[in-house]
Amino acid sequence: MKTKINFICNDSEIETSIHPGTTLLDFIRKQLHLTGTKEGCREGDCGACTVLIGELIENSVRYHSANSCLFPVGDINGKHVVTIEGLNSNELNTIQKIFLEEGASQCGFCTPGFIISLTAYLLSNSKYDSAEAVESLSGNICRCTGHSSIINAARSVLKYAINNIAQNEVHINKLIHAEIIPNYFLTIEDRLKKLRKSKFIENKNNYAVVNISGGTDLFVRKWDEILNQDINLLFSHNLPDHISEENGKVVIGARASISDFINSTLIQKYFPSLKSKLKLFWFITNQKSCNYWW
Ligand code: FES
Ligand code: FES
Repeated sequence: MKTKINFICNDSEIETSIHPGTTLLDFIRKQLHLTGTKEGCREGDCGACTVLIGELIENSVRYHSANSCLFPVGDINGKHVVTIEGLNSNELNTIQKIFLEEGASQCGFCTPGFIISLTAYLLSNSKYDSAEAVESLSGNICRCTGHSSIINAARSVLKYAINNIAQNEVHINKLIHAEIIPNYFLTIEDRLKKLRKSKFIENKNNYAVVNISGGTDLFVRKWDEILNQDINLLFSHNLPDHISEENGKVVIGARASISDFINSTLIQKYFPSLKSKLKLFWFITNQKSCNYWW
């Protein structure tokens, strides 16, 4: 199965013909040799493999964190992926410096995942809340430092962000000035607009093809078998991702993620207590998976 996949990784444009069912984690580590993204459980549980994924939505780039061990590289087509190497230039960024000051990293294996998750929180929210920032670390596990110092570091990052980020700038500029993300983030929106997004061929009614939607089970149990088969990445096709109200009904697009569902103002309007109830589920499963589970 040969299909060109085009995307931006950190500040570089990438084109590859690798099997689209290759996990993003394997592609990043083995093909791009960016080994800051770690392989831990390979099951979506530990967060060591967390990356940022930016997608053009309504003409601006929206970022989420994701577990790269469960993410097919074919689904990164036309998007921006950011690894820990893409978050600093020649020296540690602000979040990394605070982790160092707070003693929040011992062996360092889990640290890139925590830094990426906090960055995703700062990128995807315009109003910051310390408790929510700590919640955004659900699904990141540390086995040696202890989570107290990591939570302290997250709170210090939020304190810094709240005190030092000017309120009158475009959001992405604020994070660049605070040295949380590098300058090249400003170029990504235009570059994604120009990127030639490859079109995957829909394989309808072909029973030899494996259809993959979220893939969170297949990529755990059969990631190697997938590489010998033709696959159909259902979410590369134009499925709706919005949650809207139409003719007295709430319509949930097939590509809306669990996070979209939990955060939807429409869902909150009709089911006001649902968010707090689902948060337990969110916490157990972790937000990174929910950002891309459907
Ligand atoms: S390697 Fe553990 S969540 Fe991906
Ligand atoms: S610092 Fe060692 S696993 Fe977290």
